[in-house]
Amino acid sequence: MCGIIGYIGKQEAAEVLMEGLRRLEYRGYDSSGLALLNGQGLTIQKAHGKLQRLVDRLQKDPLFGTVGVGHTRWATHGIPNEMNAHPHTDCKTEIAVVHNGIIENFREIKKSLEGAGHQFHSETDTEVLPHLIESLYKGNLFQAVQQALQRIHGSYAIAVVSAKEPNRLVAARKGSPLVLGLGKNEFLVASDVPALLKQTREIVYLEDGEMVDIGVGSVRILTIEGKLIQRESIQVDWDISQAEKEGYPHFMIKEIMEQPRSLKQTAAGRIQQGKVMFQELEVLRAGLSDPKKINRVILLGCGTAYHAGLIGEYLLEKFIQVPVEVEMSSEFRYSSPAITPETLVIAVSQSGETADTLASVRHAKKQGATVISICNVVGSSITREVDATLYTHAGPEIAVASTKAYTSQLAVLFLLSLYLGGLRKTAPADENERLLGHFKQLPEQIEKVLAQSSNIQELAGRYAQFDRFLYLGRHVNYPSALEGALKLKEISYIHAEGYPAGEMKHGHIALIDDKMPVLCIVTKSSVYEKMFSNLQEVHARGGKIIAIATQGDSEIRGLIQDGVYLPEAHEFVSPIIVAVALQLFAYHVAVHRGLDVDQPRNLAKSVTVE
Ligand code: F6R
Repeated sequence: MCGIIGYIGKQEAAEVLMEGLRRLEYRGYDSSGLALLNGQGLTIQKAHGKLQRLVDRLQKDPLFGTVGVGHTRWATHGIPNEMNAHPHTDCKTEIAVVHNGIIENFREIKKSLEGAGHQFHSETDTEVLPHLIESLYKGNLFQAVQQALQRIHGSYAIAVVSAKEPNRLVAARKGSPLVLGLGKNEFLVASDVPALLKQTREIVYLEDGEMVDIGVGSVRILTIEGKLIQRESIQVDWDISQAEKEGYPHFMIKEIMEQPRSLKQTAAGRIQQGKVMFQELEVLRAGLSDPKKINRVILLGCGTAYHAGLIGEYLLEKFIQVPVEVEMSSEFRYSSPAITPETLVIAVSQSGETADTLASVRHAKKQGATVISICNVVGSSITREVDATLYTHAGPEIAVASTKAYTSQLAVLFLLSLYLGGLRKTAPADENERLLGHFKQLPEQIEKVLAQSSNIQELAGRYAQFDRFLYLGRHVNYPSALEGALKLKEISYIHAEGYPAGEMKHGHIALIDDKMPVLCIVTKSSVYEKMFSNLQEVHARGGKIIAIATQGDSEIRGLIQDGVYLPEAHEFVSPIIVAVALQLFAYHVAVHRGLDVDQPRNLAKSVTVE
């Protein structure tokens, strides 16, 4: 949802900003731009399309200067074109602003500024900001930005420079992420940590309602009201190489291939002497272990994170035996669920910045629930608002389609279910130990699925020309069907629908013909026989079946066109290895179709607007 960056230091800012934008491109990629102060004034370069277009422009027409701001856009107000690309400027082209978020009252501000003679050139909400700052400027950029922010409603992360104060960079956030990087004789602000990693690993996470006022060699953090804030920086342990493709053609395949390692990282230190340990939950232990204090669970998330929540529901209900519901955050935030202090809300989010999930967390907290998050990005907005966070430790996920973060979310939900079951004594200790034994085999089993990548590539080649798919699964692998279909849709633009296999005969069976492959998850489990019957139903109606099955299953061979055979896994951990096979299938179909796998059209990685 747009990436912003600002730099002030001794290096050529264009290089630093472009390097940062490259790492923020996952947030939006329909246009981009830079504004630099070069001693004579503000110079700007923008381009419509992918960041490479801006790179090409800058090669022909370079910008110079050691202070500047940059932006990569995911359009909300105004179509993607050069005119609407950021940075936006004031009437005299002295003030440049980059913005991530939405200014809700921009129409009324624009009207009043136009009345006062300001000339606007774009259709964006953002353009009101430089004009508003211009109208309030009385020799102090920080104060003018501060006053402007007090007049706007909505969400923002912004960075502002002005030719009138060429050694100053002002930034602020409310509702959109912003981090401050402390380098050697240089400072940066950006929407996300990977954008800063080349310069520094010393980071300060800014909170909502905070501003930074940066000069050459000095930085102050203040609230929008002007109160000085002291905040310790933290040292992030992400490595720059983790944000590189490392020889893979796409981030998505790199991240799929990383899953044996990311899963080990997720589990590291959390299994001790045959038991699950979550140090992070110690503070909540008394409440969590008492069925009277927590008698209901609500899982929240969007997209892939919601699918992880759906699987979590089966696990939590089984192991802690309380009612568990799963809600899409975008629906939950406007609903009136009867939340009580006895409700445990678990927000699942890779980025920790998804606007709907963040708003839902606030909604739940207001009503007295205990709220924990399962999150990948350390220090992100959601993690700062909840009572405790279980980090997934999957490492940075750059591809827009979530892969390793999803399997790590599933791993945390599995471990959390055993942990709570252990605390409440609702799951027998020997069963926990047995299941942990199955869990520990996953990295090795995933390696075996990954080793089939070239077979899956061939299979994908045979199906890449179809334009609709049905994914069927049951029980814990019904959400796997939803997730598999989502992966295919988002990167291949093929219509795919995930459905519970048992529901098929109530309607969907009418769709079955030889033009719609049916991908059936029919791994060995307690519902295997039921799935087998569904396979027969599809087969009898001439459907083309691709089975995701268990190695050695010869019974299904007569019914299916093609199969991917997975190592035998316990059904409660099977969604993790099923996910890997479905990710590979979606990836290879998209590659066969010649599509931009890492940056699919219309999407952005972090949805920080509603
Ligand atoms: C799909 C995908 C999205 C995200 C969703 C939530 O591959 O990545 O559906 O899962 O936008 O994002 P987070 O997990 O960051 O809250």
